[in-house]
Amino acid sequence: MNLEKVIKSEGVTAVVTSSDITGRNDVGPVYDGDPIFPKKAEYYGQPLFAVAAKTTEQARKAVLKAKITYKTLKPVTTIKEALKKKSYVLKEKIIKKGDATKAIENSVNRLNGSFTTGSQEHFALEGQTAFVIPQEDNDYKVFSSTQHPSETQQVIAKMLNQKSNTITVETRRIGGGFGGKETQSFIFAAICTLLAKKTKHPVKLRMDRDDDIIITGKRHDFYSEYKVGFDELGVIKGLKIKLASRCGISPDLSEAINERALLHIDNAYFLENLLVENYLCKTNTASNTAFRGFGGNQGMMAIENIIDHIANSLKKDPAEIRRRNFYQKKKKNITHYNMKIEDNVMHEIYDQLIKSSNYKSRQLSIKKFNEKNTYIKKGIAITPVKFGISFTTWHLNQAGALVHIYSNDGSVHVNTGAIEMGQGTHTKIAQLVANELGLNFSRVKVSATRTDKVPNTSASAASSTTDLNGAAALNAISKIKMNLSAYIKRKYKIKNGEGIYENGIVKFKGKSFKFNSLIKEAYLNRVSLSSSGFYATPKIHFDKKNFKGRPFLYFCYGAAVSEVMIDTLTGENKIIRTDILHDAGKAINPAIEIGQIEGGFVQGAGWLTMEEVNWKSNGQITTHSPSTYKIPAASDMPEKFNVEIFKKGKNVEQVINKSKTTGEPPLMLAMSVFYAIKNAIASVGNYAFYPNLNAPATPEKILMSIDKLKRKI
Ligand code: MTE
Ligand code: HPA
Ligand code: MOS
Repeated sequence: MNLEKVIKSEGVTAVVTSSDITGRNDVGPVYDGDPIFPKKAEYYGQPLFAVAAKTTEQARKAVLKAKITYKTLKPVTTIKEALKKKSYVLKEKIIKKGDATKAIENSVNRLNGSFTTGSQEHFALEGQTAFVIPQEDNDYKVFSSTQHPSETQQVIAKMLNQKSNTITVETRRIGGGFGGKETQSFIFAAICTLLAKKTKHPVKLRMDRDDDIIITGKRHDFYSEYKVGFDELGVIKGLKIKLASRCGISPDLSEAINERALLHIDNAYFLENLLVENYLCKTNTASNTAFRGFGGNQGMMAIENIIDHIANSLKKDPAEIRRRNFYQKKKKNITHYNMKIEDNVMHEIYDQLIKSSNYKSRQLSIKKFNEKNTYIKKGIAITPVKFGISFTTWHLNQAGALVHIYSNDGSVHVNTGAIEMGQGTHTKIAQLVANELGLNFSRVKVSATRTDKVPNTSASAASSTTDLNGAAALNAISKIKMNLSAYIKRKYKIKNGEGIYENGIVKFKGKSFKFNSLIKEAYLNRVSLSSSGFYATPKIHFDKKNFKGRPFLYFCYGAAVSEVMIDTLTGENKIIRTDILHDAGKAINPAIEIGQIEGGFVQGAGWLTMEEVNWKSNGQITTHSPSTYKIPAASDMPEKFNVEIFKKGKNVEQVINKSKTTGEPPLMLAMSVFYAIKNAIASVGNYAFYPNLNAPATPEKILMSIDKLKRKI
């Protein structure tokens, strides 16, 4: 690298390279492999140096003056190539239950095939950005758009060879994360800090959208090959799957993501005999990362495709075959990782939705429509969702909080590890706190997430943010309530009972106070009105090596029926109607949960129908702006969209408000769209042949699938 002209360029105040890094030159969360500035560039677009200038424009101009010569090596860019060359980021994993080979051999029916799901760019409206202000004593104050302030702090401390107590990370809220800021934000915060250190000035680094998409990892695309044995009713007897994912250049979170794929290879179905081989492919592309569903959805799509294949081969309604394979309540309720399912409401949700959506009669009218129409075809499908809640990495299931009640007016300040990213966690936590203190919502303020207020936090991820941080906040409140209670009992000689906090009044046996007066009185009597709180998820344990245990506290259930229309001449497709019934337990905030369900569904539909990440054979990404990469717009929502929260829903586990999270699970409701499209394609061959279709079902893939089918007729 020759950077002489860059340094001399107008307005430039600092240029940083790997030689400016005195500590760890890596931001990898679990394993090394994600250098801040690499010795060897391993993917197209990997950052090599950074420039600070007085204006953004000057910095951009300066960067282009770098002279860099490369020795070009031969890249591995696809999953298939990586499999062939045994190019992996980590060792393969094999999980087993029963004897799949024998069960398949003994089955009356057998099928095999292969299937692919695509990658996906997070495309949060706010891209990757950081802002760093140097402080006294070489400390740094880091503002980062991240889902994970604590690890940002650690990464920067290690990079600078400084103690963690010299770095403070603050995040007020982020304009969307979707998993793309669980680790992928670290490199930008790190580089920004390096520049702040070198310039001794505040520095802001905000990625241009193209650079953002080129540099950062995305959803893992998956390739699967399967052999399945089943009986005359379509019940799966034995299943063998090879699951391979594109991890990019490094492990990043790929181990946990592939693990979650393995943990969801069953979706809602009981699998008696199972063998899965899982390969984590190393490719010369950006390191793929967390994305809503975190591998679970990729595993679920693989089994849904198999069930769909079985139904087609038996000429049965896939809805029937799906239901027949469901986990049951009293038997057939142990997963392939040995967890007993105790909260199964799949049948209730599925049956209620089939009824309320008029699935059966619409299926008939769709068939009639297809008989009459040569070019436009319709399709319908129902798919179930069962998604496990908890971080599968056991120790991450903890959270902290800090709550203060101010003495003069009784207003409440709450701080937790929860990052507000549009999912509404701050609103929900404020509601929980207000409710616990019997106060109006407006009395509670949730402040910016900060590493010096609540330390050692986990990423806001795994749909567990409110479950964990909300519980920690309530724990802090229970401690403040204990202080208040002890004081009242002492002062007014009350023996038994606890305070009841309702409508701004606190009632003890025979004595009641206005909340504000109680707080003031307690302060004047030297009672602490502030507390930290902590929560750790009970019951869970998981032996990663033997793949056995109870990795999840509970499951979220849901189902969706989608009806689509395709144009067989252009491949264009649209969702005419979607009906969703989703379990949010006893919902904390139904409006927010419905927003998550709708948004998750549409994001999933984008993943499965229109979002397509493409690379050239040399590994250069070609889809790095909205002109080449299409995310769903409001106009891509189903024309008719009936979303309902399951009214009988409750959480049988000890979770705040008996609620269930709605963060990730609704994304998987979009599977119904993909299988409805497949159903529409099948109508072209009068349902006699099984269409070949990989995700995403873009117009061109739909056309190719129709073309292949027509050649069979
Ligand atoms: N919703 C919005 N609006 N923005 C987001 O970034 N992220 C999703 C989901 N819903 C996201 C979102 C992902 S990937 C997760 S894990 C959860 O929200 C995280 O929040 P929760 O734990 O509070 O559900
Ligand atoms: N989900 C999201 N992020 C994670 C997980 C998970 O299960 N495990 C580690 N990071
Ligand atoms: Mo979500 S993929 O767990 O950030």
